[in-house]
Amino acid sequence: MKETYLTSSERETESLGERMAARLAGISVAALYGELGAGKTALTRGIARGLGCRDSVSSPTYTVVNEYRGGARRVCHFDMYRLSGADELYDIGWEDYLASGCRCVVEWGQIAEAAFPPDTAYIRITKTGENMREITLEC
Ligand SMILES: Nc1ncnc2c1ncn2[C@@H]1O[C@H](COP(=O)(O)OP(=O)(O)OP(=O)(O)O)[C@@H](O)[C@H]1O
Ligand SMILES: [Mg+2]
Repeated sequence: MKETYLTSSERETESLGERMAARLAGISVAALYGELGAGKTALTRGIARGLGCRDSVSSPTYTVVNEYRGGARRVCHFDMYRLSGADELYDIGWEDYLASGCRCVVEWGQIAEAAFPPDTAYIRITKTGENMREITLEC
């Protein structure tokens, strides 16, 4: 399944994420692709909200992973930007995260692609203008 959406503000991207959350119900990993400032964190904010988490969502810059609670499943938000590959993801306990049944949202998915299980949703964000984004969901 592949779907394409267009958004024209951060707020629209957040609400798209909120709606996408329902599509991610049976999935363990959402891998996000897109350049700096594409809107990966904005989309994650919506996804977490859509999954029932009320914690505030921001890039896990110093920690690699942030965890949000409140929904049926914990949401673990990874930012791979400073990591060099899938090995480092395993070093911080990736397999335990997957086994725990949490839903993992991973920014800079290309850095850790080798680690993703078959039930991964691939979300690509492309800047098509100052505030315009094309967002595709494949799962
Ligand atoms: N349609 C849009 N959707 C999302 N963000 C938008 C949009 N238009 C403009 N923006 C702006 O783009 C920026 C997106 O920031 P965000 O932190 O979500 O990106 P990111 O992909 O997570 O970046 P990083 O690679 O630094 O983690 C924000 O400043 C936001 O206001
Ligand atoms: Mg980000």
